[in-house]
Amino acid sequence: MRRKLAAGNWKMNGTAANLAGLSALTEAHGNASADLLICPPATLLSRAADAAPTIPLGGQDCHANTAGAHTGDLSAAMLKDAGASAVILGHSERRTDHGEQDAAVRAKADAALDAGLTAVICIGETLEQREAGDTLKVAGNQLSGSTPDGATGANTVVAYEPVWAIGTGKVPTLDQIAEVHNFLRAELVARFGAVTGNAIRLLYGGSVKPGNAAEIFAVSNVDGALVGGASLKVADFSPIIAALEQA
Ligand code: PGA
Repeated sequence: MRRKLAAGNWKMNGTAANLAGLSALTEAHGNASADLLICPPATLLSRAADAAPTIPLGGQDCHANTAGAHTGDLSAAMLKDAGASAVILGHSERRTDHGEQDAAVRAKADAALDAGLTAVICIGETLEQREAGDTLKVAGNQLSGSTPDGATGANTVVAYEPVWAIGTGKVPTLDQIAEVHNFLRAELVARFGAVTGNAIRLLYGGSVKPGNAAEIFAVSNVDGALVGGASLKVADFSPIIAALEQA
């Protein structure tokens, strides 16, 4: 069975002062039946590892190359060296702000896997694409284009995040989430076979809050959540993790 995963994406938020909350999460969810992953800004990775050694950490992006003349970028190996065991790739904010396309995301995911990091690959449609009836087509294309051939349940997680639900307080209906997640599961099984296709975890992301987490976690093929805004405060993230532990 797939282990549940609650992943927090701090985005470009947080300084050392925010690390205090990590020990509270460890205390509340130390022996959790769900996995936890915190993705702070890369500047905080090593200090987060010191502050909460038992909480798995992730980066929010990496370069596709292992080293070289790429000012401002970080390699997957650097993230690992700083304490990360995973990296978010292809988040819609990267796709929008930095023009990242599926092929680039896949190259980064390959680099992450080579470095021994778990790739958390994000996909999701815009509102325009949903209203045009293209949600499954877009999600399917992004899934196949962004996911490396070497993906397994151990090294890859897919996060379905409708762009219009991120940071907006808008959430798809449970039926809409189920439709996409069931479709993505079938696509993974078709490409990777039943064992691997059923082992890769599918997270939902986009305005997950304490008030809607339990119902979202009850949806078929939802193996957890990628949480942005609500992961910044322990008082919000902790009940989301608790809802997942009980799912
Ligand atoms: P949100 O962000 O929870 O603030 O909507 C989710 C994400 O971007 O991963």
